[in-house]
Amino acid sequence: MAMESPFKADIVKGKVVLITGGGSGIGFEISTQLGKHGASVAIMGRRKSVLDAAVSALQSLGIQAVGFEGDVRKQEDAKRVIESTFKHFGHIDILVNAAAGNFLVSAEDLSPNGFRTVMDIDSVGTFTMCREALNYLKKGGHGRSSSGVGSILNISATLHYTASWYQIHVSAAKAAVDSITRSLALEWGTDYDIRVNGIAPGPIGDTPGMSKLAPDEIRSKSRENMPLYKIGDKWDIAMAALYLVSDAGKYVNGTTLIVDGGYWLSRPRD
Ligand code: HXC
Repeated sequence: MAMESPFKADIVKGKVVLITGGGSGIGFEISTQLGKHGASVAIMGRRKSVLDAAVSALQSLGIQAVGFEGDVRKQEDAKRVIESTFKHFGHIDILVNAAAGNFLVSAEDLSPNGFRTVMDIDSVGTFTMCREALNYLKKGGHGRSSSGVGSILNISATLHYTASWYQIHVSAAKAAVDSITRSLALEWGTDYDIRVNGIAPGPIGDTPGMSKLAPDEIRSKSRENMPLYKIGDKWDIAMAALYLVSDAGKYVNGTTLIVDGGYWLSRPRD
């Protein structure tokens, strides 16, 4: 659904953003909206065809965009993509960690390697990207004027607030992501003025997450119990991202903003 943004078109003007998983799903919508509000966008992903299509789509909107192939599980890829983004745009202001791995499987059927794979992508990948980007985001970092600092946004989930069927690996991984958000907000907020926040999306339509994880039940049965009685749009997550990474969110640090219409706390009516 294309909705007009309530934000001014220049709220992230001149900023350079690197978005992992920025070529598809929620990551792509964040790329698009940050671009539409003035940012230059680098997207990182594993699939060249997805990156190419995403970069063309962004450029057709007049957005400065570039794609870099890479897997957040590999430290050398993280380092290379961050360096390439810096070389291409001259500085890096915002890192968005949107890359994630997922599949439904019962704990009984999940191999330790399957568990580890999702932890590697979501949790270790997020930490690796943050760590490799630090020297670019901090005050006086590469290509950065002495006054400005960068910020980080980690895309999480609400699965681990309770317990979610067949999502033991993703729940554990996103719990770690939220913890990483808080730890970095403390350490890098104190030492470098870098704000580190997250977003926990609820069920969002037209995403790989929804089609893989919440087949029909959310669309019909669970929907009765949702406070806002609807599935969110990728746009809702991108607007939250704009708030958190722009000056609108300048005093927000270490929080993971739930954007789910109140879904996670809802229960059936008695
Ligand atoms: C059980 C599985 C499995 C499945 C993989 N594994 N898929 N186990 N059921 N469906 C196990 C494998 O058996 C293997 O363990 C281990 O995981 C690694 O599998 P690979 O196929 O080698 O991994 P890889 O090729 O790296 O693929 C990574 C992936 C993949 C995560 C498994 O599915 C992927 O990248 N998907 C695309 C990402 C994606 O869908 N993103 C959207 C995220 S949405 P063994 O022991 O056999 O070696 C999201 C929303 C969350 O995150 C919140 C929703 C509400």
